[in-house]
Amino acid sequence: RRIAAIVPAAGMGTRLGGALPKAYVSLGGRPLLSWAVEGLRNSGVVDSIIVLGAPDRLQQAREIVGSDVLVLAGGVERSDSVKAGLDAVGDVDYVLVHDAARALTPPSMIRRIADALFSGADAVIPVLPVVDTIKTVDSDGCVTGTPVRATLRAVQTPQGFRAELLRAAHDAAIQSGADVTDDAMLVEKVGATVRTVDGHSHAFKVTTPLDLTLAEALVASQPT
Ligand code: C5P
Repeated sequence: RRIAAIVPAAGMGTRLGGALPKAYVSLGGRPLLSWAVEGLRNSGVVDSIIVLGAPDRLQQAREIVGSDVLVLAGGVERSDSVKAGLDAVGDVDYVLVHDAARALTPPSMIRRIADALFSGADAVIPVLPVVDTIKTVDSDGCVTGTPVRATLRAVQTPQGFRAELLRAAHDAAIQSGADVTDDAMLVEKVGATVRTVDGHSHAFKVTTPLDLTLAEALVASQPT
């Protein structure tokens, strides 16, 4: 029952507005990537960790995460980064894919994902209820529909998969060309069942300056 964690950390962080790629941005004095990797370690369920960093900052990523973590170059899209991780992960039973930007994800939530895999799930994702009403819109910005809110969930990471299934899903996706925003959507496309477990409010993705303000406040209010 070996679990590898793949950590895509090669995004530019354009929406955060800073000069640094997002994973390298400081939170409470150390990079987001450091927090994310520490959460995975503290879960106690992860046997190996692979980080996909910005290609021009691999040495910096290695210094951030330490020598027990394999650091490789990420790709143009998030799914390219995950694929690079899958190609390097070796012989494991399960894979967790975890955004470096979800820096404050509690280890207990990571264990929920592992537990679901150990109890037989092929694929499992952490989710939260959606607080806003969500609309679909067309290219002119006109509303085309309102999905029933009770059926919607906001999706976090880590997302957990049987390693073989995630490999097959990424291989099948090569032709698809669609905007791949998470790994579960590729697994859904090959017909597998994706289960859900409770996510956590602290597992939000640091994306905007407001998110970073919230993360700084959480770090300041918690004993470390
Ligand atoms: O862009 P988004 O917020 O969806 O990115 C989620 C995660 O994927 C981030 O941790 C980011 O660093 C990573 N990513 C990546 N390679 C890319 C784009 C995003 O590893 N090409």
